[in-house]
Amino acid sequence: MQITVYGATGTFGARLVDQLRERGHTVIAAHRGSGVDTYNGNGVAEAAEGSDVLVDCVNRMTMKGRQAVDFFSHSSRSIALAAAEQPGTSVACLSIAFRPEVGESKLLGYYQGKAVQERIYRRIVPEERLLIFRSAQWFELVDAMTISAGPLCFVPKVRVQALAAAEAARMMAEAIDVGETGTIEVAGPEISDFATIARRLNAHRAKATGTKSPQVIGIPLPGPASRDGLIPPSPRLSDVTLDDWLRTY
Ligand SMILES: NC(=O)c1ccc[n+]([C@@H]2O[C@H](COP(=O)([O-])OP(=O)(O)OC[C@H]3O[C@@H](n4cnc5c(N)ncnc54)[C@H](OP(=O)(O)O)[C@@H]3O)[C@@H](O)[C@H]2O)c1
Repeated sequence: MQITVYGATGTFGARLVDQLRERGHTVIAAHRGSGVDTYNGNGVAEAAEGSDVLVDCVNRMTMKGRQAVDFFSHSSRSIALAAAEQPGTSVACLSIAFRPEVGESKLLGYYQGKAVQERIYRRIVPEERLLIFRSAQWFELVDAMTISAGPLCFVPKVRVQALAAAEAARMMAEAIDVGETGTIEVAGPEISDFATIARRLNAHRAKATGTKSPQVIGIPLPGPASRDGLIPPSPRLSDVTLDDWLRTY
């Protein structure tokens, strides 16, 4: 198949591109550096030309709900409309694991954007041509959730069933390869929380570099994320644990 990956240079997109090429697919790698901007629509339809599947892996990292909704609504609409111009073209949207109440949380505004993204695809793309692939949070996300202050690190104490981004990319490539549609959720083999993952990651780095590990302070978050708001109910599981991932880090 020919597959256009929007966000092809990102943490996930780069891994997905490798996985799809390994399976013999022709990949059009689209991102702003290649002249494609999903936010304002420039180059989106051109990058889609002749592709069987359009994959949305673009991202804007913000916890401000208004910014997240603005970015994901513009981007998903431009990709969905490019698919609609080519009868027979499917869409695969990379989303993230969250329960509906988190999608309305003001504290975690990013998830409002992801909720809108999923809604737009469901509205514009026929269901027999749409895959919503919802991955649990990745081990790689921990650094982005960390605020460092000298010897201290502050990390939200939020329960997650994290997995390696490479594992999520492998599972999404498999699903695209066999033409799966509908909603698929994937997660790691263990439920933990970001603060615990950060402690293990910092200890691993300190050991590797012979330095002192910063002290991680877990910050409890109020609201739905403090309960099981990010734990997918019945995901497909990766068997790569945090320890396995750290060994390859
Ligand atoms: N982090 C997690 O734990 C996690 C878990 C599950 C799902 N996800 C989802 O995974 C997706 C990708 O996240 P990521 O961490 O891989 O993102 P990332 O590393 O920030 O990469 C973002 C990608 O999008 C491209 N991009 C950004 N703005 C663009 C625009 N206006 N037009 C075209 N391309 C644009 C970037 O390339 P340029 O800058 O060159 O344009 C880059 O290739 C997100 O939707 C996120 O919700 C994340």
